[in-house]
Amino acid sequence: MDKYIIHGGNKLKGTVALKAAKNSVLALIAASVLTEEDVVLKNCPDLVDIANKLKIINSMGAKALYNGKDIFINAKNASNTDISNTLAKTLRSSFVLLGPVLARFKRAKVYLPGGCDIGARPVDIHLDALRKLGVRITENKNRIICDASAMKGGDIVFKYPSVGATQNIMMAAVCADGKTTISNAAKEPEVNDLQNLLNMMGAKIEGAGTSLISIEGVRKLHGAIYKPIPDRIAAGTLVIAVLACGGEVTVTNCCPYHIFSLFELLKNNYCSVDYGDDIITIKSDGRLAALPDIFTDPYPYFPTDLQPQITALSALCYGTTRITEKVFEKRFNHVKELEKMGAQIYVNDKTAIIRGIDEYKGAEVTARDLRCGAALVIAALNAKGISIVNDVDYIDRGYENFEETLKGLGADITRVRECRRKSLKKIFDK
Ligand code: UD1
Repeated sequence: MDKYIIHGGNKLKGTVALKAAKNSVLALIAASVLTEEDVVLKNCPDLVDIANKLKIINSMGAKALYNGKDIFINAKNASNTDISNTLAKTLRSSFVLLGPVLARFKRAKVYLPGGCDIGARPVDIHLDALRKLGVRITENKNRIICDASAMKGGDIVFKYPSVGATQNIMMAAVCADGKTTISNAAKEPEVNDLQNLLNMMGAKIEGAGTSLISIEGVRKLHGAIYKPIPDRIAAGTLVIAVLACGGEVTVTNCCPYHIFSLFELLKNNYCSVDYGDDIITIKSDGRLAALPDIFTDPYPYFPTDLQPQITALSALCYGTTRITEKVFEKRFNHVKELEKMGAQIYVNDKTAIIRGIDEYKGAEVTARDLRCGAALVIAALNAKGISIVNDVDYIDRGYENFEETLKGLGADITRVRECRRKSLKKIFDK
């Protein structure tokens, strides 16, 4: 895997324009399987997770192309409903194809999904809900075989507002006879985005963004050209990087409202956050005071996908900050690595208690997962001296050209390649 060499200490200055949200695009690609017509997704980032999802779509017989900006999918000739284990293992979101494949083909064979190692990631909520819609499911070790010939609308109550399960069931039910309701649905903006695309394709869905979603089954969906929401986690990561390094950065093509839970933490602290409809300017010239207690929870609360990054920042705040991880059970991969750079963090079960230090010191550390990687880069950008961040290929899963973005803001960061990664565009130009 590749590594970054980072000389810390530079302030960040400049402007970054965001692209579409990875987690939204992954679900929207799955939705494209629901129609025989073209689906175009605008302004998508060149990310490994997206490339892998498109490979799965192509393996089904569909045609997916990426021109460096937009994704074009035509699933007219898709027919293979048996998704390979090798591909399924590449990302968690492979499982979110199950709903649309069942809606269109009434059958599917899938494997349990892969993804970052941040704790047990069961799929019981997805499967219980599909059973409730009449899908017959056989589980054999990590293989799941589904028959949806008798699928029809039904009332589903989730025991937890799972994002992936909400997306999966919305897509499974979109063409099912009758009405489906999902209670305790996830309220994440990515669920809203999926509703918007599906409705543009002819679906009848309402309620996304609230905990009750209703889906009136329709006969057929058609193509659409759609611009997904900007990436709120990429926006939050940049905001946190500026707070850790100092400087002034403007983020454009973003939705500030989607990261309000982050702004709430920064109230009355030593930084300034200005925002408009689709723009944020963050200014900071020194150390922050300890942040209020942080709990990760489903939207609109603080996102688990920003927890490692805010932990890296908290370790630099004056005083003690407490962060409780309530979404994933094992999401403290970054703590041991941050400690190598001087962080003082004590983890007690789900809570990290973090005592602020003046600055990080350069060290060799290793990204253990995507957001852990982002947190380590933030720490290294602040650190006195040189840091090596190993295994940064994880970062390619969720940040497009992370090193180039940061270089553009004045960071001293170099990528050392173990082997050259093929860009998403090159893979699909073939
Ligand atoms: C999505 C995001 C991920 C984010 C997460 C929470 C994508 C591709 N990924 O993941 O980046 O961190 O939402 O915001 O969009 N759970 C169960 N049973 C299930 C499903 C989930 O117990 O059947 C549990 C999980 O173990 C976890 C919690 O529910 O503890 C949240 O998971 P979920 O909302 O499903 O996350 P994902 O959709 O996988």
